[in-house]
Amino acid sequence: MNILGIESTAHTFGVGIVTDTGKILSNVTDSYTSDAAGMIPDKVVVHHNTVAEKVLLNALDNAKVDWNDVDFIAYSAGPGLDPCLWAGYHKAKEWAQKYRKTLIGVNHCAAHLSIGKVYNALQNPCYLYVSGVNTQIIVFEDGKYRVLGETLDIGLGNMLDKFGRIIGLGFPAGPELEKLAKNGTYVELPYVVKGMDVSFSGILTRAQQLFEQKKMTKEDLCFSVQETCFAMLTEVVERAMAHTGKKELLLVGGVGANKRFCEMLNIMCKERGATFYKVPMDLAGDQGAMIAWEGFLRKDESGDIEVRPHWRVDDI
Ligand code: ATP
Ligand code: FE2
Repeated sequence: MNILGIESTAHTFGVGIVTDTGKILSNVTDSYTSDAAGMIPDKVVVHHNTVAEKVLLNALDNAKVDWNDVDFIAYSAGPGLDPCLWAGYHKAKEWAQKYRKTLIGVNHCAAHLSIGKVYNALQNPCYLYVSGVNTQIIVFEDGKYRVLGETLDIGLGNMLDKFGRIIGLGFPAGPELEKLAKNGTYVELPYVVKGMDVSFSGILTRAQQLFEQKKMTKEDLCFSVQETCFAMLTEVVERAMAHTGKKELLLVGGVGANKRFCEMLNIMCKERGATFYKVPMDLAGDQGAMIAWEGFLRKDESGDIEVRPHWRVDDI
């Protein structure tokens, strides 16, 4: 069985094809880019509509299959930007009608978790999902995802990007910030853990003040922002693992590219006899293969559900 997955929640339009064993046959993406910071949704929709057929053909070509070999079409129903979701949904619907396939709407966040789980052949991990928008600690218990902790304000990636803009780094700021941090030393910033939740906006405000007052170098600020935010998440994740008895930790989302973050989580896991896992870069970002795989897992319970822009992972 082969499943074709369509991703379109934000700036990326992607089509991936996977088998029912989780083997990825192809995974083609085309992302909207612009010189100006941020995305203009109407322009992203034009982008998605323009590239859709080309991305589809490349995905079929790379997988060496045609429509006869595709059993289902899965698409990202949400969460995401409303116009982008509709663009993806309309393509999914158009292709489903044209090629007589069944539609399966899936949750984008759950897809990030599932592809990491199958890639690493995990049993039942504790998930740490840290992207631009999302920062959540998630476990799967009693047939449901449960969010044990999350950011109370902005996602860590967005916070790093905002801070990067303030100190003059390009977008996204994460990679450059990581480089600068290598030559920094630690200065204290607010450390904001509230129960199992975290908050990043106070750290951003304080770091901005210190930068504007020219009290610290960019390097020291980058290092301190990283150390503080990563330590907060490591602390909360450790508590989640202690509470649930999980022996596997899986980090997904773009901030997972950060080597220092992975190092801290790896040390924490080793100290408690657990194992740390992540996903390779081509599966870390938004793409269609993860949607296809999540579609396979949900094929008996989901269908044409149109779009759900605010669909939380614990509402599945
Ligand atoms: P989602 O829809 O799943 O929330 P997203 O588009 O918001 O996805 P991702 O593509 O998963 O986010 O991740 C992008 C974020 O990762 C950006 O905020 C970027 O700055 C951050 N990032 C990328 N590389 C690094 C790095 N080396 N260190 C820290 N952050 C990084
Ligand atoms: Fe994503």
